[in-house]
Amino acid sequence: MYELPYDSTDHHRRACRSEGLADILRPRDNPEVFMRTMSVVAVMAALLVAGALAQSESDYQGWMKSNPVNLGSLNKNIAAKDGAAATADAQKLEATFKQVEDFWKKRGGAEDAVNFATKAQTAAAAIAKDISAGNFDQAAADVKSLQSNCGGCHMAHREGSQGSFKIK
Ligand code: HEC
Repeated sequence: MYELPYDSTDHHRRACRSEGLADILRPRDNPEVFMRTMSVVAVMAALLVAGALAQSESDYQGWMKSNPVNLGSLNKNIAAKDGAAATADAQKLEATFKQVEDFWKKRGGAEDAVNFATKAQTAAAAIAKDISAGNFDQAAADVKSLQSNCGGCHMAHREGSQGSFKIK
């Protein structure tokens, strides 16, 4: 009976194995595998960058969604002259707009947005100061000045509608 010089299945398996781990670990020995490894690395890097952007935009949305909540609470606590709670609200707003400011600085090309975020922080800090001085009327007035930055920035840099707002 004619015998195959080798088991063809085994040969096939070996052929498939030839671009195995060793080639990936020593890719320079095989230019084709090296190129393929490099393109996988490039795709992974691109995905990481895209992922980081998506992450910061979803963070951004979280900050924005916290604003009406903190503002509502601040107004309520100023009306009730609850200094400790109102101060905590003002500090949360200030911290949020610090993050918003950093976001726009990193993004670049929108000095006006950076300015709105800076002015919102200044107003939030003023509110906290008013409250610590026991001046709740001034605090209420400064809340209005804080709020004037919301609309200004939204007109310039927000698009879409309720439920599908986007950064522009
Ligand atoms: C520096 C610019 C800027 C300032 C200042 C700003 N916003 Fe925004 N806001 C945006 C942008 C851009 C969007 C759209 C992207 C998004 O929804 O995350 C947005 C979206 C929102 C949303 C919708 C969130 C959502 O997607 O459901 C709310 C609510 C909101 N802002 C409230 C406020 C309030 C309240 C203030 C002021 C206390 C404020 N924002 C100040 C830029 C700003």
